[in-house]
Amino acid sequence: MIKLGIIYGGISTENEVSQMSAKSVIDNLDKEKYEIHKFYIDKDAKWYRVEEDKKEEIHKIIEELKKLDIVFPVLHGKGGEDGTIQGMFEMFNIPYVGCGVLASSVGMDKVYTKVIFEKAGLNQTPYVYVKAEESNFVIINEKFEKEEIDLNKIESKLKYPMFVKPSNSGSSVGVTRVTNKEELKNAIQKAAKYDDKILVEQGIIGKEVECAVLGNENAVASTVGEIQAAESFYSYDAKYNMPESRTVIPASLSEEIIEEIRKLAVKAFKSIDGKGLSRVDFFVEEGTNKIYINEINTMPGFTKISMYPKLFEAVGISYAELLDRLIQYGINKEA
Ligand SMILES: Nc1ncnc2c1ncn2[C@@H]1O[C@H](COP(=O)(O)OP(=O)(O)O)[C@@H](O)[C@H]1O
Ligand SMILES: [Mg+2]
Repeated sequence: MIKLGIIYGGISTENEVSQMSAKSVIDNLDKEKYEIHKFYIDKDAKWYRVEEDKKEEIHKIIEELKKLDIVFPVLHGKGGEDGTIQGMFEMFNIPYVGCGVLASSVGMDKVYTKVIFEKAGLNQTPYVYVKAEESNFVIINEKFEKEEIDLNKIESKLKYPMFVKPSNSGSSVGVTRVTNKEELKNAIQKAAKYDDKILVEQGIIGKEVECAVLGNENAVASTVGEIQAAESFYSYDAKYNMPESRTVIPASLSEEIIEEIRKLAVKAFKSIDGKGLSRVDFFVEEGTNKIYINEINTMPGFTKISMYPKLFEAVGISYAELLDRLIQYGINKEA
């Protein structure tokens, strides 16, 4: 029996999403193979041991975790997907599923993801990096120097529609699609509520597609899936509250484009030094079929109907087998 800790909830805006992911994970783990220990983190960073449906707060967290063979942080966003909890596991030699400190923190921060992706030669949308300072905003240029903010300057670099996003976020929280200067200004202010680093990006008109990556050194890509959002973009509501949002697997793209995206997904995973798993998201532009990488999620949504497991299910790897493999990749990071 492998003593497996499932850690879920978390301090981020995605606490509820994590609870859904963890429920699927727990329901689908082979109970003959794993002795499951559940840990819930609430939004105030308090830890609880969960037995049946009873929660008991714990304080000697490291001691509890050290009794296990491996932990699976089924946590999305801040405090779970950003390298911080991974750093804690590293410090105390606790084996864990998924990406390490660097990959997690780079993948979580959209501005720094862009820097690495650019270095790797991955094609991405033009953007402007804005930073919130005490009482105003500045633009941070390619050399990381401050420039005065000027919405005209943003408009001269990027075409509408634009997307404004907090650099550290997830589940589309704080993301706004804008079509004019007034909306741009408001969206920057809104994004600043979530992070002082803000990304203004040129919107891509076309298909939104996702590819799952699994493994360590010899990581492989799944097929490619397509998001058909029920709104003008894949907002929080479109993701979780609108059943009209659909996912189509495989994406309605040519073999060549699917192959190209699969290669790019592995390349992106390697570029951030990914381990275990990631879901890499792209846009394919209407008319030109040009592929733009959007982001990498090092702990993607993991419910039974989430894109990540569904993409592997489509190529013959069941949800339960996927969990087995992820746990093995976590135990043996050299594999
Ligand atoms: N440059 C873009 N062009 C078109 N749509 C975009 C762009 N950036 C974001 N979006 C839309 O906004 C959604 C959320 O943005 P994303 O960068 O994926 O942030 P999150 O980390 O919150 O998922 C995307 O799923 C997509 O629908
Ligand atoms: Mg996304």
